Amino acid sequence: MPAKPSYLGLLNAIAVAETAAGVALGEWAEMTTDKRLAKTLRMVAMREAEHGLAFAKRVMELGFEVREPEHDPGASLSKVVHSNRSDVSKLRALSFHKGPGGTDVFDSMFMDKTIDPVTGGLLGRYIAEERDTGWKLKAEYDRLHARDQAKKQRAAAKAASGS
Ligand SMILES: [Fe+2]
Repeated sequence: MPAKPSYLGLLNAIAVAETAAGVALGEWAEMTTDKRLAKTLRMVAMREAEHGLAFAKRVMELGFEVREPEHDPGASLSKVVHSNRSDVSKLRALSFHKGPGGTDVFDSMFMDKTIDPVTGGLLGRYIAEERDTGWKLKAEYDRLHARDQAKKQRAAAKAASGS
């Protein structure tokens, strides 16, 4: 067996988490009645699933096997997706109302100076896509939140006019 890269655990964690996220987000796309959100979720789910496969492939190319964790890495995401919350509430619960500003979990991934170029290329694309996903889901949150607020204002105005 080849020498174990220091970043193998990171690759494994990404492979299993992205695979699980791909499934959960695909299910959300099927559940929502908002066509625009469904389209965004399908694209994001496809990205997640592809990241899962690409990182699993990289683990294997390095000479190892993907290890499944003891706990389901998608459990908390799946719980929110399958809750009876509204889409806006789900996006907020998953912190997609914030957008990828400030520091994030990806900032430290390149601290390891031994990452090989092929893995580095994959990791760079992954990070950029995850952040782009964050912006796309924030845009969905903003759109749906604004729609809800406008609906509330119309209802309040109607109540105030006594009709
Ligand atoms: Fe992801």
